Amino acid sequence: MKKVLAAVVTMAMTMSLLTACGSTAASADDTAADATEVTTDETAEAETPVEEAADEAEVAEASQSEALADGVLTVGTNAEFPPFEYVDDNGEADGFDMALCRAIGEKLGVEVKVENMEFASLVSSIGSKIDIAAAGMTVTDERKESVDFSNPYYEAVQYVIVPADSDIATADDLKDKTIGVQLGTTGDFIAEDYTSNVAQYNKAVDAVNDLVNGKVDLVIIDKNPALVFETKFEGKVKVIEGAQFGFETEEYAIAMPKGDTALADAINGAIDELKADGTFDELVKTYIEAE
Ligand code: ARG
Repeated sequence: MKKVLAAVVTMAMTMSLLTACGSTAASADDTAADATEVTTDETAEAETPVEEAADEAEVAEASQSEALADGVLTVGTNAEFPPFEYVDDNGEADGFDMALCRAIGEKLGVEVKVENMEFASLVSSIGSKIDIAAAGMTVTDERKESVDFSNPYYEAVQYVIVPADSDIATADDLKDKTIGVQLGTTGDFIAEDYTSNVAQYNKAVDAVNDLVNGKVDLVIIDKNPALVFETKFEGKVKVIEGAQFGFETEEYAIAMPKGDTALADAINGAIDELKADGTFDELVKTYIEAE
């Protein structure tokens, strides 16, 4: 960001310098024709920095966003949600969302820092502790009251994980069961429609552990993490598609401060570019389809 700001400042200075020279030259010369000539010449000279700035239009636009002004995009996540975010062997947050944010940061010319926190704290931390949240977060009307969302980047649906020998199969079977969920997720909200026995966990994997231990009857969680857990707990659990229970599709998007349209434009623009240049599909293949 600093480089761009410097370029813009330099450009502004160059232009005022040229304007100053122009008027001096014009007043020193009596003929209007000469004055016009001088002005034209210098307008032409001034084009280079203007053009440069136009090339960096997207970045310059980003600089108007308060969230990007310091050159650092702080991304909040909850790295307990493979393949979208998890802590890798080096203790770093990785996954599809993290890779997507790193790519967005590259496009915008800002450094990306990740804050790993509880999922339920993400929305309220936007605008203070974090600039944006990328956490396989479903766009919901309730969340939209506190944050804005980018254009959706992935379609999801809740799945049900049950013990391998379970005969749970229909929505009726979910009634009054003990349902394990990750706290504050859409799976949590759905579970509350079926039972008052919702066991809320900060880490989804703990819900699945308790399913295996017989402490909960089923777990409601997004499709892709459900498939990852099915592999992780192979033979002990099975997954059932959400459509079987009438669960509606959901859309993931990046959450950001309300009203920061410069940031929304910058992020949406970057995602569009990543889709157009094939990076987005590469990340889907690497992180999601490889699982
Ligand atoms: N899509 C669900 C939601 O928005 C679950 C997201 C959980 N994400 C995470 N990183 N733990 O509520």
